[in-house]
Amino acid sequence: MAEDLNIAAGSKQEQYEQLIPQIAGLLEGEPDLTANLANICAALHEQFKWLWVGFYMVKAEELVLAPFQGPVACTRIRKGKGVCGSAWQEKKTLIVPDVEQFPGHIACSSRSRSEIVVPIIRNHEVFGVLDVDSEKLNDFDETDQHFLEIIIRMIPI
Ligand code: SME
Repeated sequence: MAEDLNIAAGSKQEQYEQLIPQIAGLLEGEPDLTANLANICAALHEQFKWLWVGFYMVKAEELVLAPFQGPVACTRIRKGKGVCGSAWQEKKTLIVPDVEQFPGHIACSSRSRSEIVVPIIRNHEVFGVLDVDSEKLNDFDETDQHFLEIIIRMIPI
């Protein structure tokens, strides 16, 4: 059984740097995708206390809700729709400082103010996305993009 997460202090970068080896430990030796996605979003949610952290996985031309932490969320998103569907279509991380300024943003929670979506890409194909929502405006920057992309690349798929 995994030990409790050691909650890191310090700057955002320092928090990620202490969290990543712990995520590596959680993933080590576990091939099951659902188990690994579940522990990654639990670890991120516990460390950063964001409103919502979770995954949507590509299934038959839609993104379908997968392991997450936070309020209940919409279950299906089509390609090109919302921030998640746009990150899928564009195959790149999207940082949205103010969700109200993003055309077509899908409001799963009225409390969400800013968002980052990181696609899971293997062999140029998108398997799913990591979606993180914050109650604070402008809560995500290049530091989040850098470290969340590292975490996403650690997932054994
Ligand atoms: N806001 C997302 C939808 C998913 S929820 O935030 C959990 C979007 O626009 O794609």
